Amino acid sequence: MASPNGALADRRTVLLGVTGSIAAYKALDLAGRLRRRGINVVAAMTGAACRLVGPASFESITGNPVARELFPENKPQTIEHIALAELADAVAVVPATANFLAKAAHGLADDLLTAAVLATKSPKLAAPAMNVGMWENPVVQGNLKKLKAGGWQVVEPEEGFLACGTRGAGRLARVEIIEQAILDLLGRGRDLAGVPVLITAGRTEEPWDPVRFLSNRSSGRMGFALARAAREQGAEVTLIAGPADIAPPEVDSLIRVRTAGEMRRAVMRQLPGNRALIMAAAVADYRPRITQRSKIKRSGGRITLELAPNPDIVAEAAGKRKKGTVVVGFALETGDLRANALKKLRAKGLDLIVANDARALGSSSNRGWLFFAEGRSERVPETGKDAFAKLIINRLVGLLKRADG
Ligand code: C5P
Repeated sequence: MASPNGALADRRTVLLGVTGSIAAYKALDLAGRLRRRGINVVAAMTGAACRLVGPASFESITGNPVARELFPENKPQTIEHIALAELADAVAVVPATANFLAKAAHGLADDLLTAAVLATKSPKLAAPAMNVGMWENPVVQGNLKKLKAGGWQVVEPEEGFLACGTRGAGRLARVEIIEQAILDLLGRGRDLAGVPVLITAGRTEEPWDPVRFLSNRSSGRMGFALARAAREQGAEVTLIAGPADIAPPEVDSLIRVRTAGEMRRAVMRQLPGNRALIMAAAVADYRPRITQRSKIKRSGGRITLELAPNPDIVAEAAGKRKKGTVVVGFALETGDLRANALKKLRAKGLDLIVANDARALGSSSNRGWLFFAEGRSERVPETGKDAFAKLIINRLVGLLKRADG
């Protein structure tokens, strides 16, 4: 079907629903980004959204008229919501207000956007943005649950300062993350199709007798989210997983290990067959120098546990890699995050280091910095580990393209 600006039928079209949240202006940036990717964007704005951002801004950025009314006077012969529903290869409602979510969840169709959303058979996404009280309200969460069950993709809001002056969850997700979700929805995001990627996740356990070990609080969530995100982009993922609190995701090949020594052997064996290594595992830096064969008995007195350093797996892998292999490491710090991460990036010879706060351990969200070998850096505000992982995989795509020259 031809788009309103006469584009060819094979050009993909996103119907960008804009509803009346203060974050509506951020949808302008999103529209511009999608258009620069060659995607045809048609904005459908609610009355409240038009009061916050001028429709003319969307018209100049998208190059298309903004759809606003169910029965536009200038097009008496078309049924606008059906035309939009058929035109859209994907629908993205950004930002989505609590009001919109409620209407969509219950099938209300009292304006152009809700009617088009109800009529379309194309995949749909909503990126909610609202005050924390509204966001946390069980009614809103119930509506979201309904929408997800009905196949909607929801890009969860972030924590942060909200337009209403409070702090909490409800701020629109980062535009880049929403953009990636829309690309995924269009089936465009498979940048790693067939690319073999090696990912480590979880913690290691270093035994000092048959029943005791040294370890850390890593849950495995970040590494598993990376494996999922890489697979969503089409990568062939080999996951080397140490102990973790949750079950690993489905991957192409899963190798379970326990100690740093086992992880090192597995990484070195797998590395030559992969284009990238993401070392997200929380490897114990030290292990007991001696592992007793039988359980150490309680004597009442002090005992001394002598520790020996573990091999630095990621540094060794970076040193021995084939040309063109991209190596990504993590730095978990309790202080001086940036300086320590930069030091590690250089010392270990990595292409990218993800520096995150020790508070991320065991949690479902993360924040931090990405430091690239070429000197660039990028701050990542508090965000869910799935979204954080998608961002890292996105950057990995860029690094692999550069490595290919
Ligand atoms: O030096 P540090 O342990 O803080 O470095 C963290 C990074 O190095 C992570 O990517 C981790 O997976 C990796 N690492 C490793 N081998 C170790 C310790 C950490 O590969 N023995």
